[in-house]
Amino acid sequence: MKTSPIIALDFESAEKTFQFLTAFNGNIGVKVGMQLYYQEGPSIVARLKEQGYDVFLDLKLHDIPNTVKSAMEVLAGFGVDLVNVHAAGGKRMMEAALEGLDKGTPTGKERPALIGVTQLTSTDERQVREEQLIDATLEQSVFHYATLTKEAGLDGVVCSVHEASVIEKECGKAFYKVTPGIRLPEGSSHDQIRIATPEQARIAGATHIVVGRAITGAVDPKAAYEHINASWKGME
Ligand code: C5P
Repeated sequence: MKTSPIIALDFESAEKTFQFLTAFNGNIGVKVGMQLYYQEGPSIVARLKEQGYDVFLDLKLHDIPNTVKSAMEVLAGFGVDLVNVHAAGGKRMMEAALEGLDKGTPTGKERPALIGVTQLTSTDERQVREEQLIDATLEQSVFHYATLTKEAGLDGVVCSVHEASVIEKECGKAFYKVTPGIRLPEGSSHDQIRIATPEQARIAGATHIVVGRAITGAVDPKAAYEHINASWKGME
């Protein structure tokens, strides 16, 4: 998956998505989430791949190992670049996901990278303690899931910028640290709680940033993308 900022295409239809993408030339990474995928199905992925986009299919699978394995076998056939599961599904489920991807990857093609979602970036400390009944801090929980993900053989995790450096220390530089919750200093945080700027993400050791509304909701999305890319790459 390219290391340029990954744009979260949280649109309601293919029409709106490709209208938005007219300003871009295909040589970047995009993320297709549940809304767009459930609306449009596999054809949205095929069209994006045809236009030269790297695709992160963000469906966050979480089910029994056998079901996840079969589903991953299907997703690997789409030729996506990056997919994910919830680390809370357990080590066996994550291993099964990898097996499914290996099985479904067409001969001669590269297996899609697989990452585990640790704690969602909209989750706060209170939810971890009171709703999930986990007797640990949010950071400890994220760290624990990251270690489990690594042990299962996955390529990395989704985490917030705030946990990226501690994960880098334990799991290494090459281990993907894909960080959503990215905002420019002057922007709104929307429903995200653990937010950070592109520059903070770079300094913390994130390998990829996922940016949605800070780009898709901008008056000039291409300019917002360039601004975020420059800040991410340390060019401003
Ligand atoms: O608009 P915004 O930049 O907040 O979009 C972030 C994107 O990243 C959304 O598509 C959201 O579903 C996704 N995401 C997230 N936190 C995670 C995993 C994915 O915000 N832990």
